[in-house]
Amino acid sequence: MRNPIGVLCLLVLFVSVIRAKPPQQAAKTPDDKTGDTPSWAYGFTTPAGPRPTTPNTPPAAAAAAAPAQPDNSPKQVPGSTLTFTRAQIGDRFGPADWYPGDHPAMPDVVAHGRKPDVWACGLCHYPNGKGRPENADVAGLPVSYFVQTMADFKNGARKSTDWRKANTNNMIGFAKAMSDDEIKTVAQYFAGLQAGPWIKVVETDTVPKTRVNGGMFLTLEGSEREPIGQRIIEVPEKTEATEVLRDAHSGFIAYAPMGSIKKGEALVTNGAGKTTACGVCHGANLQGLGPVPGIAGRSPSYLGRQLYDMQQGSRNGVWSALMKPVVVNLTNDDIVAIVAYLASRGGPAVAASSAPSPIASPAASPVTASSTGGDSLVAQGRARYESYKCYDCHGKNGEGTDDAPDLVGTHLDAAGIAKFLQKPSADADGKGMPTIAASSPDLQPLVAYVMSIKSAPR
Ligand code: HEC
Ligand code: HEC
Ligand code: HEC
Repeated sequence: MRNPIGVLCLLVLFVSVIRAKPPQQAAKTPDDKTGDTPSWAYGFTTPAGPRPTTPNTPPAAAAAAAPAQPDNSPKQVPGSTLTFTRAQIGDRFGPADWYPGDHPAMPDVVAHGRKPDVWACGLCHYPNGKGRPENADVAGLPVSYFVQTMADFKNGARKSTDWRKANTNNMIGFAKAMSDDEIKTVAQYFAGLQAGPWIKVVETDTVPKTRVNGGMFLTLEGSEREPIGQRIIEVPEKTEATEVLRDAHSGFIAYAPMGSIKKGEALVTNGAGKTTACGVCHGANLQGLGPVPGIAGRSPSYLGRQLYDMQQGSRNGVWSALMKPVVVNLTNDDIVAIVAYLASRGGPAVAASSAPSPIASPAASPVTASSTGGDSLVAQGRARYESYKCYDCHGKNGEGTDDAPDLVGTHLDAAGIAKFLQKPSADADGKGMPTIAASSPDLQPLVAYVMSIKSAPR
């Protein structure tokens, strides 16, 4: 069982804790960037370079552009009985839905958009939400996260570091034009869809030569290869099925440098001295936790772009603050390794209700909490409960003693616990309860631990 309210409280708390610290360095704006974007993540072969000074409106997403020579022949894909022309497949206000049996009825905005400003979400993200490397896979995202990130697009807190990335600008335009009700309906639709195996990760020294179209790498015909370097090259498994037909059953191959999955595993599971273990917030199986989105089995180009955008401050939403300390020390090589590992963690989604929750684990026993692994915030909090000897007054498992109340029955929420720890009441202070400063790395884990033993409200 999980406790989304507890998770939310913790998130709010983390944000306030992190926000309270003075910024280590001023966030750069996208316009400050002068050519050090990792082009592979943005779907380019060269760095962005400075934005040209002449104002020019970015071209509409090339992926949706009509072919120069209209091809009106009927197209088909394996596994579907339907037939569409190229114009229908790329129709911004009613793209092909090859597999209507795959998904529940689409809200009208997903299927048709809303003329003139909102294109059908299904065009780029596919009706089943699996998406493509140049946009995003959106199936199974938590509703609250979806709504928040749309608000971030809308209010300018989420942009692309690479000014050339036209489809991100399109996305921002859609978010601005949508009503709150539309966003909520779409969020609920995509949240109900299953994220699933869609990308195969292959470690290699060389990759097939590619060209880029509309922000996506496509394998060139022939057998020529080139060194991979420190890049991920993500290509459709079948070029025509993806590029031309937008077949929502045809997945992707992500080529990654040799050894990157193993290196990424270390960074993701224990931080490798450079970052925070991701499972603490993204869930032990990395498939999401409460309002925090899943990161397992997703497009490595998409994930890499987000990490870089958050590092550069181009993505700076309310919740991005939680990711700031995570990304601050990551190099391009680290990001390559992390996303290779994450993308390789495909596999069918584990039912959310059976996933152990490392932030707010079931109230039952601290033993369960610590057994969720060394990367669990709760386990860290348990260890600190021991080292501060909180048990002297509150009992071995927070059951209380004659000297101090039980913590299992506390009425305080996460923010309240954090406040109490920073400034214990006169009574607690008089009896010798330690004070934990806001800047102490012990604060979050202790709050998480107390939340984990707190019994659910009756
Ligand atoms: C022209 C193609 C296009 C269309 C159509 C489109 N999007 Fe997007 N969307 C994108 C791109 C590109 C991104 C990723 C932006 C980036 O990486 O900078 C994105 C990202 C997103 C994300 C963020 C996913 C995450 O994990 O944070 C959400 C949510 C989203 N889109 C919702 C929608 C909705 C709702 C619609 C329909 C109204 C829609 N999109 C239509 C291109 C599109
Ligand atoms: C302290 C909690 C926390 C930790 C630890 C954490 N994350 Fe996150 N992460 C978040 C939150 C919250 C968001 C949503 C940010 C936003 O809305 O802008 C997020 C978003 C992301 C996203 C963007 C997802 C999307 O759909 O666009 C990626 C990628 C990501 N995290 C990767 C990682 C990786 C990799 C690690 C470990 C190295 C990690 N995170 C560790 C809290 C965390
Ligand atoms: C020397 C005794 C002592 C120690 C050690 C101690 N506390 Fe306390 N704590 C108290 C007393 C006494 C109170 C009740 C104060 C009151 O009611 O005003 C209290 C209250 C609390 C409360 C508020 C509970 C509520 O429902 O109001 C929390 C949370 C708490 N302690 C957590 C901790 C944690 C975590 C530690 C270890 C870092 C710790 N305490 C160590 C004596 C102690």
